[in-house]
Amino acid sequence: MSKITAAITAVGGYVPDFVLSNKVLETMVDTNDEWITTRTGIKERRILKEEGKGTSFLAIKAAEDLINKTGLDPKEIDLVIVATATPDMKAASTAAYTATQIGAVNAFSFDLEAACSSFLYGMSTVSAYIESGRYKKILLIGADKNSSFINYKDRATCIIFGDGAGAVLFEPNNEGLGLQDELMRSNGEGREFLQATYGGSSYPITEDTFQEGKHYVFQDGKTVFKNAVFNMADVAERILKRNNLTNDDISWLAAHQANKRIIDATANRINLEEKKVMMNIQKYGNTTSATLPLLLHDYESQLKKGDNIIFAAFGGGFTWGSIYFKWAYNS
Ligand code: UT7
Repeated sequence: MSKITAAITAVGGYVPDFVLSNKVLETMVDTNDEWITTRTGIKERRILKEEGKGTSFLAIKAAEDLINKTGLDPKEIDLVIVATATPDMKAASTAAYTATQIGAVNAFSFDLEAACSSFLYGMSTVSAYIESGRYKKILLIGADKNSSFINYKDRATCIIFGDGAGAVLFEPNNEGLGLQDELMRSNGEGREFLQATYGGSSYPITEDTFQEGKHYVFQDGKTVFKNAVFNMADVAERILKRNNLTNDDISWLAAHQANKRIIDATANRINLEEKKVMMNIQKYGNTTSATLPLLLHDYESQLKKGDNIIFAAFGGGFTWGSIYFKWAYNS
């Protein structure tokens, strides 16, 4: 019997309608369109404005897009994972709410948090479940409402982050398509450089910390940048080497969209031409857990059965990794 692999068989996506452009940011903080464009590649990002709507709203929309496109019966879904760094609430699972709202009534569900690497870690988790033969239809959703913890007076973060969601369906494959290999890493010494310090269990929010805005996300951009460039390029190069792949064998690089210069550095390290590098950072900014599935959503029509894709991500924690993947369908 041939080995079961975990393939992606459908993709959906959603971004909110409200566009926050670099021009508008110029009126909010000391920045300008030219600086943001040349230093990050971002032109605009989407923001979920409606009151009382959290990450699950984005996740549900992305899942519904996938369901409507494919005619998938949500009752057949075995497991729903919401990869997110911005859950709706503490304690209550965002994935459980999402699964119920989309009609996945026979599924169990949980949230998975690894900052900007959440979706990549989710791909690893889902694939292990599928390869074991235990579950057959798993919905992995990457969703983040980053605007909920961004300080729009801090130019080191507000120019980068946006809101969005992408959903992918994983199913068993017996043609050898889907996840081929993975290299996943983390290093907790990096957490001081990118975190929202207050509001978790270490430091609950007090009146003073709230006034000082310490519940917002903070980053030492330069240090995060250096670590992202080094580590993402490193794992991408290593996964190619250990699978005896050259740049000619690779159809696409799907890299976390945090800064165009980080993506370019990763592509350069593995000698990949620009036309093979998926890029949508200019439209959405850094949507954290949603960048990888939104890339698949935007590029789906160009992907062909058998295409070799290198996924790579880096995020807070630090967390990072790379996955070598074979695409399973023509759309
Ligand atoms: O998703 C994973 C987590 N996040 C990331 O991977 C993000 C990683 N970091 C970055 O993308 C970049 O570090 C930033 C975009 C955050 C900052 O870019 P940078 O090239 O590292 O800028 P910098 O902090 O070294 O600052 C360079 C200059 C400074 O001015 P001087 O000292 O050279 O005169 C800053 O004051 O740019 C200035 N600057 C800005 N100017 C206009 C910093 N931020 C801005 C801004 N607008 N938003």
